[in-house]
Amino acid sequence: MKTRIKEIVHQGSCADSCSFSGWVRSIRSSKGICFIVLNDGSTVEGIQVVAESSLLNFSHISRIGTGAALTVSGALVESPAAGQKWEVVATAIEIIGEADDSFPLQKKRHTFEYLRTIAHLRPRSNTFGAVFRLRSKLAQAVHRFFSENNFLYVHTPIITASDCEGAGELFRVTTLDAANPPVLNGRPDFSQDFFGRKTGLTVSGQLEGELFALAFGDIYTFGPTFRAENSNTARHASEFWMIEPEMAFATLADNADLAEKFIKYLCRFALDECADDMAFFDRHVENGLLERIRAVAEAEFARMEYGEAIEHLRRSGSAFAYPVEWGLDLQTEHERYITEQIVGGPTFILNYPKDIKAFYMRQNDDGRTVAAMDLLVPKVGEIIGGSQREERLERLEARMTEMGIAREPLWWYLDSRRWGSCPHAGFGLGFERLVMYLSGMENIRDVIPFPRTPRHCEF
Ligand code: 4AD
Ligand code: MG
Repeated sequence: MKTRIKEIVHQGSCADSCSFSGWVRSIRSSKGICFIVLNDGSTVEGIQVVAESSLLNFSHISRIGTGAALTVSGALVESPAAGQKWEVVATAIEIIGEADDSFPLQKKRHTFEYLRTIAHLRPRSNTFGAVFRLRSKLAQAVHRFFSENNFLYVHTPIITASDCEGAGELFRVTTLDAANPPVLNGRPDFSQDFFGRKTGLTVSGQLEGELFALAFGDIYTFGPTFRAENSNTARHASEFWMIEPEMAFATLADNADLAEKFIKYLCRFALDECADDMAFFDRHVENGLLERIRAVAEAEFARMEYGEAIEHLRRSGSAFAYPVEWGLDLQTEHERYITEQIVGGPTFILNYPKDIKAFYMRQNDDGRTVAAMDLLVPKVGEIIGGSQREERLERLEARMTEMGIAREPLWWYLDSRRWGSCPHAGFGLGFERLVMYLSGMENIRDVIPFPRTPRHCEF
């Protein structure tokens, strides 16, 4: 087994001699001695390697470039230099892969915009190393949380024949020849397509998730999600990952309780299990991040009716770009104002007007709102969207008719209300928005390894 640099720097566990591999982050040579900082991706800190002229290949080593791959053997000693506890005095250095000075990640700091243009190399930078370690750990924490709470993990399909959110944002999946499709009555004939019908990439695993909740009680999905919406913002990606729990025998209040418990768990997890990377974000990405996340882990999340939120916004006297009026959807500027200025912390907005929400949400007795909930957080705005579902067959069918949604393709969904229907609720947490929130990174393109956005799909 290789020794990882993380073990060496954290535990000083490299008694007499050790061997490890990594990439050169920086190299400094002066007469007869060379200081190399090597990083292997296991931790944000590299380890300083001291190469002395007694090494057989010293002259070669003193000329290697940033980015080169090395295997080092040596002894760990307490470092006399400031800023690090340990360093390794090399007894041998093998040059595995050279890098010349055209390697784009030279020592100077690069902008995130520039690093986006070299997404194939940016994982080798400190910031992206930290981001993708955090992302990996968080994904595991998601599974841990649901496992500890006895939720069943279900893999909902990626290719789907139904548009859950009903917003027409599906990417089409087809094997028809775009230039020459079979035509029926002047339109492409999807009955001749691969699946014998129109299909697309899923925008949400919710509807299939509900079927499993009505068998297993508490379930969740965690998978890729696709939306062909043309929104070029710092918070929208065309391909993103979503976590969707669904609970049977549960109400909107239970749903908010679960969301609050989940977010706090993830905050504590990041602080405890990703301490080095979180400290790095606090120093280099957002000053005060640790304090902010600590406060969220302790806070009681505010709960506010949609109508109250509109009142607050109207009374604020702030000039918003988008109008504020009962019945209109909240825009990011409104969401951020509520969570940042009015509440100063995470805030659930509950019971939205039915006309701005999806067909499956439970209709409230007032006849004009549905049991929807969004969780808004400072900096990001909406991080979670969810609802209690309409479990009453007649009400659901009536709503679909009102909204012009065909029942026939959703026959299986309606069946779930026919036998053993029960109150149930769930939500979706955008995984990238979570990573943004916990790292302080401000652009969704910088928390997903290979971002897909309108007019951009490299690799
Ligand atoms: O609010 P949304 O659209 O809700 C649903 O899809 C429901 N079916 C979820 C459910 O009840 N099971 O999306 C949920 C979350 C949003 O709050 C946001 O965090 C994220 O998914 N999200 C996006 N993240 C990145 N890019 C996009 N284009 C996103 N659209 C939604
Ligand atoms: Mg939403």
